[in-house]
Amino acid sequence: MKRVLSLLLILAMSFGLLACQEVNPTATTPAAESTETVTDVPASPDSSDTEENTETGAPVSTDGVVTDDSAALDSVTLKERYADTFMIGCALPLDLMKNPISSGLFLEQFNSITMENEMKPDAMLNQTACIKALPASYTEPVLSLSKLDSILSFAQENGIKMRGHTLVWHSQTPKWFFTEDYTANGALVSKEVMLQRMESYIRQMITYCEDNYPGVVYAWDVVNEAVDPDAGNDPNGYRTVDSMWYKVVGPDFIEAAFTYARKYAAEGVHLYYNDYNCSLKVPQLKALLTKLHDKGLIDGMGMQCHLSTSDKIANAVYYTAVSLAETGVMISITELDIGVGESSSLETQAMKYKVLFERMEEAQKSGKLQIESITVWGLYDQRSWRPGEQALLFTKTENGLEKKAAWYGAMQASDILAIEW
Ligand code: G3I
Repeated sequence: MKRVLSLLLILAMSFGLLACQEVNPTATTPAAESTETVTDVPASPDSSDTEENTETGAPVSTDGVVTDDSAALDSVTLKERYADTFMIGCALPLDLMKNPISSGLFLEQFNSITMENEMKPDAMLNQTACIKALPASYTEPVLSLSKLDSILSFAQENGIKMRGHTLVWHSQTPKWFFTEDYTANGALVSKEVMLQRMESYIRQMITYCEDNYPGVVYAWDVVNEAVDPDAGNDPNGYRTVDSMWYKVVGPDFIEAAFTYARKYAAEGVHLYYNDYNCSLKVPQLKALLTKLHDKGLIDGMGMQCHLSTSDKIANAVYYTAVSLAETGVMISITELDIGVGESSSLETQAMKYKVLFERMEEAQKSGKLQIESITVWGLYDQRSWRPGEQALLFTKTENGLEKKAAWYGAMQASDILAIEW
């Protein structure tokens, strides 16, 4: 009884909070992704007859058994739970793909893969070969395409679909790619030459995948993180200060990349613009998406969603997605993780995951959004790019890779509350 009353009280308080957020959508009160400090610490539901496993945060009864609803969920996997809704993806580094324990868990739970680093330009471009092949390579850079074979065949053999990440990005793209002699200190090439190199790079990446592993790559992050009004003074809010693409080609580089990607991608392969902190740059993103969509060059917006437990899913994700989708694009959540702030808990994190999946499922089923996939950025906490923040769905313990409360949240277990604090 005591527990029921506590839950009712928490629910009543939470509806009040949610109602407030819903009349204050993203455009006016944006929530930062993973940049906010934790200021609001949730009260826990009464835990007189349940507590959490301290390592995983998973709800367990006092006799150590996973609680009823969570236990029932153990016979279902994430990809099964959302089989009729959207694809469920995970970013993997190559070594985890080759590790039977990690890849076993990945194959059990997920049906979409993104390579964490191995398909980025710095992994694909071959500087030695580019220099050696000059002058023929001047506008036709040499790529190490065979490195993709083990990756794409893993996906093909296991029936996994892939998000190609990423073709054009200011980061993890070497400076030598932009110079006359392919050395880091060389003079920069002209805009025209760089556009030829860009087209060649995009053509080689897309056609290698499609010719050798048809149907595996279902979406490409064509351009990544090009919008940042705080990183320069471009009138459209494009990033300028640390972007060689902007420096050599100018603001046209974004549309050029999509034009080339459309030219070479097979019909039905979706072209995405991908970015972080989307709630903080909705007007700039909408302008870009509208321009590209009007020209038939783009299919989707990838919202990275590197979040923290202090973020409000309603603002940082839901209203932002609804607003961006007004431009006519589909949405994917491409790099989801939710860091646990210092004064927060794994239990709160599980609630955030539940709110996010619940809202996305509802938006998909009601037709408010067209969501292609939700991808978590990493398999387990200790191998996350945010290693101290316990941001993912699984953790490594002495018993192996275990589900966290966050996993039960993503599965929408009924004994985890879908509440925003
Ligand atoms: O490959 C080198 C290795 O040779 C070297 O010995 C080692 C020493 O530190 O570094 C290795 O490179 C690291 C690389 O990951 C591969 O592990 C880089 O230092 C490290 O900076 C790089 O971090 C990646 C980061 O992108 C770089 O921008 C993260 O793993 C990856 O998770 C992260 O992913 C990005 C998305 O692509 C775009 N959105 C943001 C997201 C998180 O930052």
